[in-house]
Amino acid sequence: MNEGEAFLEALEQKARILAPGARATYEANKDLCSWLLNPLARWAEAAYGKQIFEDAARGYASYCIGVAQAQRIYEKAGRYTPEAMPEIMSGVYEDEGYMVPYMWAAILIYAFWPSMVNHLAMFREDFLRRLPANARILELACGHGVLSLLAAEERPDIQIEGLDISPPAIAVAERLLKVSGHSGNVKFGTKDALQANGSMESDVYQGIISAMLAEHLPEPKPLFSAMGRMVSKDGLVYFSTAIESAQRDHVYEYNQESEPLQMAESAGLRVSLLVSDAGLPSAGGRFLPRATAMILQRR
Ligand SMILES: C[S@@+](CC[C@H](N)C(=O)[O-])C[C@H]1O[C@@H](n2cnc3c(N)ncnc32)[C@H](O)[C@@H]1O
Repeated sequence: MNEGEAFLEALEQKARILAPGARATYEANKDLCSWLLNPLARWAEAAYGKQIFEDAARGYASYCIGVAQAQRIYEKAGRYTPEAMPEIMSGVYEDEGYMVPYMWAAILIYAFWPSMVNHLAMFREDFLRRLPANARILELACGHGVLSLLAAEERPDIQIEGLDISPPAIAVAERLLKVSGHSGNVKFGTKDALQANGSMESDVYQGIISAMLAEHLPEPKPLFSAMGRMVSKDGLVYFSTAIESAQRDHVYEYNQESEPLQMAESAGLRVSLLVSDAGLPSAGGRFLPRATAMILQRR
């Protein structure tokens, strides 16, 4: 059996309603999903013990319920209605009880949600496998740190720094790093993405990852400016964001794919690849939640 199936089995026990959809996405994309779930299962069990599979299943279930509730409120209000940033900091990013289960969900959706599985494909095929040799990589808002760890697993020649504003998320990332065997190549730290090391310097990184961060910022334009400055001429940016997709900590509402695209272009970047995916058919609401990912390069 694939080690990663332990996550699905826990879902079948603890969140039965959500399990068939997750399994269908996994079965239809087994190579790709196992590429994520197998090492994740090894690191998670080594760092937290077998209990982690149930904990992750519970985290995934409460996240999915929260997303559905937030989308209903969004449909009624007609716009995102986020709490103020200080409340999001204290109630989400600094709250270990909220943040740790959220982080398990944030990584599992890449293998369990049809709208995210194409992001995983783009991340592996069009970003990691195309980075220049010995690339220096920055991951902004690394959360759980798993994308950085997978990057190190796939590309042992690269060096990666991951940073996130949330201390409990960085604690998860550090715990997984410790058992992953990648401590020589990967470093994590607690920091605001907009105050990244090198954000004022040019040409510092051959790869930048900004996955599902822009919608968490009150204004994402400075994120694009910093990425446009920091990425080298031969480098790649992997960028993703949520469109018409409400969540408790989504504060910037994108309604069209052209909006992040134009922000990227205004920052001197061009898009070499774009995927935008609504996943499952919409239930007929006025908003269609989508997840968009792009590969960006310096013009
Ligand atoms: C949806 S999670 C994404 C985690 C990971 N990048 C992924 O794709 O699974 C959003 C992350 O953004 C982080 N975040 C929000 N605002 C941030 C900021 N200003 N600087 C750095 N991280 C931030 C949160 O702490 C959280 O870990």
